[in-house]
Amino acid sequence: MRMYDIIAKKRDGGELSREEIRFFVQGYTAGDVPDYQASALAMAICLRGMTPRETGDLTLEMAASGDTVDLSTLEGVTVDKHSTGGVGDKTTLVLGPIAASLGLTMAKMSGRGLGHTGGTIDKLESIPGLRTELSREEFLRIVKQVGLCVAGQSGNLVPADKKLYALRDVTATVESVPLIASSIMSKKLAAGAQCILLDVKTGSGAFMKTAEQSRELAQAMVDIAAHAGRKAAALITDMDRPLGNAVGNSLEVAEACAALQGRGPADLTDLCVELAAGLLVLAGRAGWEEGRALARGQIQNGQAFQKLKEMAAAQGGDVSVLEDPSCFPAAGARLPVLAGEEGWLTAMDTALCGAASVELGAGREKKGDAIDSAAGILLHKKPGDYVHKGDLLAEMFAASPALCRRGEEVFRAALRFGPEQPEKRPLVLGRVGGA
Ligand code: URA
Repeated sequence: MRMYDIIAKKRDGGELSREEIRFFVQGYTAGDVPDYQASALAMAICLRGMTPRETGDLTLEMAASGDTVDLSTLEGVTVDKHSTGGVGDKTTLVLGPIAASLGLTMAKMSGRGLGHTGGTIDKLESIPGLRTELSREEFLRIVKQVGLCVAGQSGNLVPADKKLYALRDVTATVESVPLIASSIMSKKLAAGAQCILLDVKTGSGAFMKTAEQSRELAQAMVDIAAHAGRKAAALITDMDRPLGNAVGNSLEVAEACAALQGRGPADLTDLCVELAAGLLVLAGRAGWEEGRALARGQIQNGQAFQKLKEMAAAQGGDVSVLEDPSCFPAAGARLPVLAGEEGWLTAMDTALCGAASVELGAGREKKGDAIDSAAGILLHKKPGDYVHKGDLLAEMFAASPALCRRGEEVFRAALRFGPEQPEKRPLVLGRVGGA
């Protein structure tokens, strides 16, 4: 078999066999297929697409390219969730405890934030002492004990994706549904859960800007799970505004704790309840309506919040900050942002809002940059609110007043005001699978 023929076949619109896909993935991971041939194939896939069978085979081969996690020794149905990323998305911190408190088992590997989007690992690490770099044994021990553990991705999980994603990033081949879907799902398959719920974000803060693109990606990922013998469903959810009111690591943990105690913003709570219902449906434990009621019940009876504290303690975290978020180390400076005009807040460019939080120190521009756990934004107005001159729009938190002012400048550029009340956008714009 020759890489040249595989590239030419895809260039001409042919359908690659499982063997051809395996030849490429194994050869590229081992270093036998050079970057220039891999990038030519990635571009051919970008332009010609892939059938669901090809996308499924590509995902299976990528998932098998490195370590995989065996969750078969765990009790209960193993579940996982993936969000395509957004601003203020702290759903794992709320959903995981709800799911585990209902007897589902979540052994979750999460990532760090990059660019305008945040990452669960950074949020968790704002809890003093909490460790996310765990050995495989420790990870599984905590899952067995608590039903929930969230750790960083292990070193050799899906090395094919690590190489291919870095290549796609510099060869203008990121924007391809089969390549995105296989990249995401290879990591989910390797992480081992039986049921996978996908939160595909759409809007100005999301990777996918329109509901149509998001639906296409969602369908591709649900199809891959079926091809792999796993259960999956996807919700297409709004990211045209930040989720909740907090953007930034310890601020988001505090907001997640409030949501778990029934005091969270409605959008965050409603989405987490919907996601939890989705996991219960996939696990065969409830229908959607019953699932929502069960999830809300775990917030009301305090068991979900208790689960978060159990997980944090098992991972070495100081639980007192969860009980009283005012114990989190404070930011060096705070700057209130006041409205300079009156009118409806019609839109908030969510990627810019995320960029403002990066300016404040809450995120990183490039891998490895340091972050300030206390930095971020607390929103006091969201699109759809009427604003009077002088109203508090938001608070900026950063290490210094100068950083607060830099964040404010970017944040103000994200805001749009107008004379008309904007149309209300639903939080969940669609669903794929999980019938
Ligand atoms: N996230 C991933 O993990 N992979 C992609 O290709 C795009 C987003």
